[in-house]
Amino acid sequence: MHSQLLLTLTVSFLSTTVKSGAVDLQPRLDNGLGRTPALGWNSWNAFQCNGGSASAAMTAANQLVNLGLKPLGYVYVNIDDCWSSKQRNSAGQLVPDPSKWPSGIQATINQIHGMGLKFGLYGDAGTMTCAGWPGSKGHETQDAALLSSWGVDYWKYDNCYTQCNGQVPQTCWIARDTKSWYTTFSNALKAQSHPILYSMCSWGLDSVWTWGNAVGNSWRMSGDIQNNWGSVSSIAHTAAGISQYSQPGGFNDLDMLQIGNGGLSEAEERAHFGLWAIAKSPIIIGTNLANIKTSSLNILKNSAIIAINQDSLGKAAKYFTPSGQSGPGNSLYPYWAGPLSDGVVVGIVASNGALNYNVNFASVPGLGSGTYNWKELYSGKTGSGTSISGSLSTHDMAVYKITTGTAVTTGGSGETPTVSTIVPTTTSGNTGGGGGTVAQWGQCGGSGWTGGTKCVSGFTCTYNNAYYSQCV
Ligand code: GAL
Repeated sequence: MHSQLLLTLTVSFLSTTVKSGAVDLQPRLDNGLGRTPALGWNSWNAFQCNGGSASAAMTAANQLVNLGLKPLGYVYVNIDDCWSSKQRNSAGQLVPDPSKWPSGIQATINQIHGMGLKFGLYGDAGTMTCAGWPGSKGHETQDAALLSSWGVDYWKYDNCYTQCNGQVPQTCWIARDTKSWYTTFSNALKAQSHPILYSMCSWGLDSVWTWGNAVGNSWRMSGDIQNNWGSVSSIAHTAAGISQYSQPGGFNDLDMLQIGNGGLSEAEERAHFGLWAIAKSPIIIGTNLANIKTSSLNILKNSAIIAINQDSLGKAAKYFTPSGQSGPGNSLYPYWAGPLSDGVVVGIVASNGALNYNVNFASVPGLGSGTYNWKELYSGKTGSGTSISGSLSTHDMAVYKITTGTAVTTGGSGETPTVSTIVPTTTSGNTGGGGGTVAQWGQCGGSGWTGGTKCVSGFTCTYNNAYYSQCV
């Protein structure tokens, strides 16, 4: 092939969304960060401008440790708006407000790092932050270098006072080229020595999920979350429709949690947490941990649900329609499912009032008819069967982990073989590897294949680094 033509084809291949089967492969920001959604705490929802200080940061850091949240993975202590002085210094640098950081911001960051935690800061792509503090427009390289020199680990970058039809209003909801200014700061961060997770806060404008992967590690897909169920459920509903864009290195950000802030019932807090977890959102606690109720803390500390959120596959759950049910409409739908590296998660949320549910595994994407082991991760109940059923009070949620790897089938003879006794009798046609379909008890990848494969619904094999070589 002519070399110029080859080059052109290669470039267009790399710059276009690549379709591989049903999966969209998209260019990623290659900074190695955010392979699973970030877990931590942020000052804004609880304290707004009053939270931009060393004392707020150190208080939260100590609480993450003392409440046992750090060992569960909540490591980011993120300070939001209002942390700097109102003016840059004569060198054009951002200056931590000395009244809020009496020993300087570096001392606080060092202490937080010394506790095995990470530190995040907030900035803005426009002339000012949303609360009116200095923005980074025109100072992107300088600001990125300053963050790196301090050892900042997480940068939330807001979208206030950016260009809007030649104006710079505080917020502007019309379509604009937000990608250009988010890319400017992405490039500035890439040039720094300290790794900084890039959290884009462009409120879902310009379909950020379609380009966010190439530019940042997460992107807000909505306006600000409010402290009520309507807001939580509407954000989750939007996330269900854009689940395919979340993958390791780049995730839809459903916004900081409202759990603990008093606007949600205990059932709604369970649903908020469960939905954020299965949608693979960053889980950033947004409450004053000094006053948190035990029930709220217990929700945040549900390690089994955190493990779903942190699953290495990084695939977000979305709606599915159980047989006999009508499909999703224009508000939060009860039935969710998503793939895990070692099974499938099914979420059921009583979005429209108390719900009696009965879901046959045959209608769950990634499963199919057969008997599976399940565990409900709020109650801890376990079982094995062809379906799950139960009842939920209004706005409550059940989160089931269905384990495909240990699935047993209801064979005609009623036997329930375990994985260790299975002798593969059928192989896929791909002797050298690759995907394919095999019969029950078939072996992926062909006879003798020992490479990484994964069984998905309908006994289909796909590669996935070291899972099952047999499909049962
Ligand atoms: C908003 C942002 C909030 C918070 C606030 C600070 O634009 O979405 O999460 O950061 O600004 O002023």
